[in-house]
Amino acid sequence: KTQNLLRHAIEIYSLRVNCRVTSRFAHTVITSKIINRANESREATFEVELPKTAFITNFSMSIDGKLYPGIIKEKASAQKEYDTAVSQGQSAGLVKITGRKLEQFHVSVSIAAASKVTFELVYEELLKRQLGLFELLIKVRPQQLVKHFQIDVHIFEPQGIRFLETDSTFMTNELNEALTKVQNETKAHILFKPTVDQQKVNPELDETLLNGDFLVRYDVKQVAAAGDIQIFNGYFVHYFAPQEMPVFPKNVIFVIDRSGSMAGRKIEQTREALLKILQDLRPEDHFSCITFNNKVVEWKSALLQATAENVASAVSDACFLIAGTDINHALLTAVSVLDKAERLPERSVSMIILLTDGQPTSGESKVEVIQENIEKAVNGKYALFCLGFGFDVSYNFLEKMALSNGGIARRIYENADAALQLQGFYQEVATPILMKIEMQYPDNAVEGLTKNNFKLFFEGSEIIVSGKISNELDLLPVEIKAQSHTSDLTLKEEANVKEKEQVFQSRSYIFGNFIERLWAYLTIQQLLEKSISAQEEQQKALEARALELSLQYGFVTPLTSMVVTKPTGQQQAELANKPTEAGKWVLNSPLGMCGC
Ligand SMILES: *[C@@H]1O[C@H](CO)[C@@H](O)[C@H](O)[C@H]1NC(C)=O
Ligand SMILES: *[C@@H]1O[C@H](CO)[C@@H](O)[C@H](O)[C@H]1NC(C)=O
Ligand SMILES: *[C@@H]1O[C@H](CO)[C@@H](O)[C@H](O)[C@H]1NC(C)=O
Repeated sequence: KTQNLLRHAIEIYSLRVNCRVTSRFAHTVITSKIINRANESREATFEVELPKTAFITNFSMSIDGKLYPGIIKEKASAQKEYDTAVSQGQSAGLVKITGRKLEQFHVSVSIAAASKVTFELVYEELLKRQLGLFELLIKVRPQQLVKHFQIDVHIFEPQGIRFLETDSTFMTNELNEALTKVQNETKAHILFKPTVDQQKVNPELDETLLNGDFLVRYDVKQVAAAGDIQIFNGYFVHYFAPQEMPVFPKNVIFVIDRSGSMAGRKIEQTREALLKILQDLRPEDHFSCITFNNKVVEWKSALLQATAENVASAVSDACFLIAGTDINHALLTAVSVLDKAERLPERSVSMIILLTDGQPTSGESKVEVIQENIEKAVNGKYALFCLGFGFDVSYNFLEKMALSNGGIARRIYENADAALQLQGFYQEVATPILMKIEMQYPDNAVEGLTKNNFKLFFEGSEIIVSGKISNELDLLPVEIKAQSHTSDLTLKEEANVKEKEQVFQSRSYIFGNFIERLWAYLTIQQLLEKSISAQEEQQKALEARALELSLQYGFVTPLTSMVVTKPTGQQQAELANKPTEAGKWVLNSPLGMCGC
């Protein structure tokens, strides 16, 4: 016991993660209570990881009952105002990216002997559907045994919960006993509350098992063909996730960087992934492969049908083995292969998947010129997906190119599982089932509509549109137009506003104006995304609007900062900024919502 106390002079005696998910919108509060058991001042640290896709909305410290709230301000002015304070300490800021999906929030404060501090962090995120699942990720790493530990998740999905499971990377039989799951038609409650003994690696050691991911995965029921509309306090959200539709044949060109820097493990992993991906092509798909370094090499000069024979020959063939980086020429070649392609299936989806780990160094190397060339050549006809391998890539450049050509960009982390990451990405785009999707709402009754036109929809993802409805509205009519492989679709639906509002009445389950906040979250994400490929003037306007909403709704976005103030005598202020992967911000936009 004495040893234990000595080891943890700074004792976390309570750690709670409270999460409410209402209709995909997750609101998480992490509260950590710490006491200084030493007989002198010590640093108390609060360190948690949260999803990159989340926006922090609040942080506060309460030291011996005195509250130190975080204040959200415009980033530029916060930076200026606190420049001196910030430059005194390590000015790295309180938030940094720590992995593929997570960023870390870290703050330390010095507290006197026997003092107590309560840290509280709040963040919100819209869960996105991928491969038919929503995933709520809670990272757990208290680094010591905690007397009162609990994760408490409430989910309310008015559409109905079709499936729900929990998973974790640290669960043992002992710990499993501390997990309870109650679920009915629309609600689920997951409680994980291990005792100190259950937390122990073994009874002799004061070492904790709790170190890793705690996951809740679920999916909702799809009832109406035109999706589900929810309305609360003057805002609506419309979820559309059609399923069991015929899949479009795809025409895919893989454009693979094989410059010197890719040599070795990266090209091996790429090769491994491509072999699996090729074997997953459907017989009605067409494909080709272009590799490039300073030379562009086409495997075949035309697209081939993905017959077993052709796939086998690609697999065994030079395509992936043949031995500065000309991205421009490689992409233009891919576009021209698609332009020239004959006898492709009618109503098929053509896409180019670029994989590179470097900067354009040979041929045309000005990124602006390349962007312009590619956009002109693609001209809205094909979707361009850009995968950046490792950290030497100009992710900004790839992201801009993908977004302005109806696709998205992803970073592939240079780890042992890179091949799996590549396959995972491919799986998401493997089943296009709709294109040219237009979600229509009455102009005169809806304001502030989020993006409502989508180039492609992939099975397992979800389209989300939100907006504000006028007070007088009784019925909200929606109309969806889209093309499937076999036909042109028109889907109609009418939502009764009063009835829909009723769903959320008298529910202790929901927090605040969640649809309005969901709308603000989505609008900010889309404004930021649009600004990436916008011209300078338009970019300013988009950012100004995103900033306004970030401040109004209290989100720490790439345009705002949270100023965290500490007790006098300590480094006075630190800034929590949204870290960015590319020097600019990272957006993990759902695939179903890409394009246009
Ligand atoms: C704090 O406690 C340690 C160990 O119990 C002791 O050696 C030290 O003298 C104490 N310091 C003060 C300032 O009381
Ligand atoms: C942030 O949290 C603190 C402590 O719970 C609370 O007093 C404050 O009102 C919150 N701020 C906002 C903007 O919600
Ligand atoms: C559904 O479950 C929740 C708890 O998870 C409970 O509060 C609620 O009353 C249940 N509803 C019905 C209709 O059983």
